[in-house]
Amino acid sequence: MIEVSALSLSVSVQGRRVEAVSGVSLTLKEGRVLGLVGESGCGKSLTAQAMLRLGEYQGVERTAGDIRLDGISLFDMDDEAMRRIRGSRLAMVFQEPMTALNPVFTIGSQLIEVIRLHLKLDKRQAKERATTLLQAVGMQQAEQLLSQYPDALSGGMRQRVLIAMAMAADPDYIIADEPTTALDVSVQKRIIALLLNLQKQRNLGLLLVTHDFGLVAEMCDDVAVMYAGQVVEAGSVHEIFDHPAHPYTRALMSCRPGLSADSGELTVIAGQVPQPGRWPSGCRFAERCPLADAACEQPVAADAWRQQTHVARCVHAGEVVR
Ligand SMILES: Nc1ncnc2c1ncn2[C@@H]1O[C@H](COP(=O)(O)OP(=O)(O)OP(=O)(O)O)[C@@H](O)[C@H]1O
Ligand SMILES: [Mg+2]
Repeated sequence: MIEVSALSLSVSVQGRRVEAVSGVSLTLKEGRVLGLVGESGCGKSLTAQAMLRLGEYQGVERTAGDIRLDGISLFDMDDEAMRRIRGSRLAMVFQEPMTALNPVFTIGSQLIEVIRLHLKLDKRQAKERATTLLQAVGMQQAEQLLSQYPDALSGGMRQRVLIAMAMAADPDYIIADEPTTALDVSVQKRIIALLLNLQKQRNLGLLLVTHDFGLVAEMCDDVAVMYAGQVVEAGSVHEIFDHPAHPYTRALMSCRPGLSADSGELTVIAGQVPQPGRWPSGCRFAERCPLADAACEQPVAADAWRQQTHVARCVHAGEVVR
């Protein structure tokens, strides 16, 4: 399994180092789907990228905590070991498939390159595997597709190619950062079904970063809700959906289209996520929270409220959970 424990990350904002992820703990197990949700800017992508140590190429630094893969710290690995692990043990599927594909190389050459980076196959075998992978992600005429360039494909097809690439070396974990947000709703559904299918078939551990609570309900076993760089609530999908404990989670869920359909309007949470470097010392959600009082001015522990596997970073959670 992958264990993120008390991870803090800093980024550079106008020449100043500020904390953007604070003390995040998550566990991703093989065969499980973990949903990571929260509003824009709360640190979901930074956390997801850290699991492959990708952030360090963009000026992100680990300031505290650890990430262990089967007990071994990623931060103890040298660059070569890390390169081997990326792809072969854990792979990433990004939000915007066009930025992850190189427009000047064919689908085939990019896929074959990834395959040969990880597997000892000759050109012909790698080409065969590329064809098989494209078929596995539901692409018809896989062989013709190998000689095409990314811009000849639709968004949904590109995302399928990226999923095929992520699967190239049979990883145990997939980190999918909003894998469908750039796509039409009908295409989104098919891509999600594909991911879930692969996850079940191969017993993958899947981290799904998303804004979409509907998707979480459909796909995930476990959920972690992030707010302003922290995990504010975590538990099984049933615990979170049936008994949301943190006022932020409750507010997010009431924003879901459909729930407030009778009013015909989306409820939105008033105010904004405080930016890194501007976090209050107490509860970070307090200024937007209907329950906030003087008790919320002190820092709140990640498990200030706890029931079985369900935790919430809120001193008032016990008053609202049904
Ligand atoms: N490489 C970077 N350098 C500086 N700041 C960064 C960097 N990456 C992210 N940030 C900042 O850190 C905060 C968290 O970013 P992150 O991308 O993790 O948010 P997110 O939860 O994924 O949001 P979204 O839902 O919009 O994708 C944001 O304020 C963002 O501007
Ligand atoms: Mg993001």
